[in-house]
Amino acid sequence: MLPHRLIEQLLQQAVAQCLSDATIANILVRPCPDPKFGDYQTSALMSLAKERKLNPRQLAADVATRLILPAWAKMEIAGAGFLNFRLDTAIIEEVLQSAARGEHLFFELASAPRTVVVDFSSPNVAKPMHVGHIRSTTLGDCLARTFRLLGHRVITDNHIGDWGTQFGKLLVGWMSDLDRNALLADPIGEMERLYKKVNTDCESNPTSLERARFELLKLQNGDPQNLAIWHEMIDLSQSQFDKIYARLGIRFDHTFGESFYNPRLKSIVGQLREAGLARESEGAIAVFFDSVQELKAHPALIQKSDGAFNYMATDLATLQYRMETWHPDEIVYVTDGRQQLHFTQLFAIFRAWYPTLKPKLMHVWFGAILGEDGKPFKTRSGDTIKLSDLLDEAEERALRVVMEKNPELGDIERREIARMIGIGATKYADLLPNRQSDYGFSWDKMLAFNGNTAPYLQYGYARIQSIFRKLDATESLADTGEKASKPNLKLTASEEITLAKHLLNFGIVLEAVAEDYRPNYLCNYLYDLSGHFARFYEICPVLKAEGRERTARLALCDLTGRVLKQGLELLGIETPQKM
Ligand code: ARG
Repeated sequence: MLPHRLIEQLLQQAVAQCLSDATIANILVRPCPDPKFGDYQTSALMSLAKERKLNPRQLAADVATRLILPAWAKMEIAGAGFLNFRLDTAIIEEVLQSAARGEHLFFELASAPRTVVVDFSSPNVAKPMHVGHIRSTTLGDCLARTFRLLGHRVITDNHIGDWGTQFGKLLVGWMSDLDRNALLADPIGEMERLYKKVNTDCESNPTSLERARFELLKLQNGDPQNLAIWHEMIDLSQSQFDKIYARLGIRFDHTFGESFYNPRLKSIVGQLREAGLARESEGAIAVFFDSVQELKAHPALIQKSDGAFNYMATDLATLQYRMETWHPDEIVYVTDGRQQLHFTQLFAIFRAWYPTLKPKLMHVWFGAILGEDGKPFKTRSGDTIKLSDLLDEAEERALRVVMEKNPELGDIERREIARMIGIGATKYADLLPNRQSDYGFSWDKMLAFNGNTAPYLQYGYARIQSIFRKLDATESLADTGEKASKPNLKLTASEEITLAKHLLNFGIVLEAVAEDYRPNYLCNYLYDLSGHFARFYEICPVLKAEGRERTARLALCDLTGRVLKQGLELLGIETPQKM
């Protein structure tokens, strides 16, 4: 067990002895914000004391007398009622040694694994994926990977927009104006053109609008010709999406899409009416939230007056299907912030509909991407930027940087490295900011080799690999890997100890990412790790050191490399061996 976890368990037991009714699972030990005061800290006793109107320092003292720590941990009561803990170097050496033996990588599997559905990416058929979809895709993928690594059962589902009123216009365009060659060259571009054309036409021409409605109705009623065209539109779009997912290294367990739920929609509306949750209003069917203060003014439409079911009805059917099929403990939806009301309504309807089911339902929303001018990120002509163009440009720019930094690389290797840097930088720029704030897109910033960027972290990893390339072929890490009762590595310099302690906190950070759905914690952790490593490497010679000191330093290099690689992998970022 990792030291902080053991301290946490002993602390929880001590608190239970003092306050038998306390919810001890909330009593957590976290890294101390200022290392001056210790390595770990708990602030939980102060909130416990506050709830119970106790003197917080007195409570801390009571808990402290009951808390019997192992010899390697020192404890101190501080401030208004904090407990601070400090680790002896010996235990840090021991944890390092067991990690070097491959027994763990500073994180533990969840003691109570959950089933988590992650609904992310979810682009729309016949429309290009835009930069907003990249945020959903990278965030959702990172969260899914993190849950999985921590031992949860994860189901990813790409809820593609493959149904809706837009297909009426698309069908009209397809039948009257399709350019097969253009479709072959750029399927989504051609479908987008058709849609835009019919859409403009409909604005001034009621017969066009009528025709679009008619074709939509035929599609909904299963007309074979319209269904065939619709299928072709989906297949063409999916193959374009798949190209992007392949470039991003992303896969999904399922891509059911909205249309999958069509057979359920009629019954969903019926069930909600029967349950007294939905009722007729001006010819349409809506759910009214009489007892939910924040939603009183926002009834949710589920069926339009012309009989068509909408996005909300589909999401209700989707939620019901997921509960029936996978029995998840948690469902996470990753979309932009404009859908907040939709998900608040969806979750409120579900709670009223299934009061006995208690899955955690989470809308993980994010802000917009802005151009360097602070305005919404657009092309010069004002169009939304397509994701494929963005990735092309990222790779091209990265290639220029790589050529400049390392002109000796051969062409194939150089392109492969540029691919990893370009894609990695794009993802990292998306994951680093607090997801709820808008962020400004800047090629120069995200591709810089200095600062908090993917290339900086990738470079840090590559540099560590070069240390091991220099290591004499006959030497190996077998030394650190040997089973030994006593650590055969020794930490002396403060830079070594700081780096080692930071490594020990990897798992805490991963748990926080999963708890708060915030990959930026991991980005910042890895950035700090690189900084601690750089200071260590500057002060402490590795290959020239000897004995247990050398063993320790090689282990620090190796483990920093492994944590960097694992961390970047969770962010969906590849690590070149050379740069
Ligand atoms: N297709 C939608 C969009 O592009 C996102 C779908 C999100 N998932 C969901 N279950 N509603 O905005």
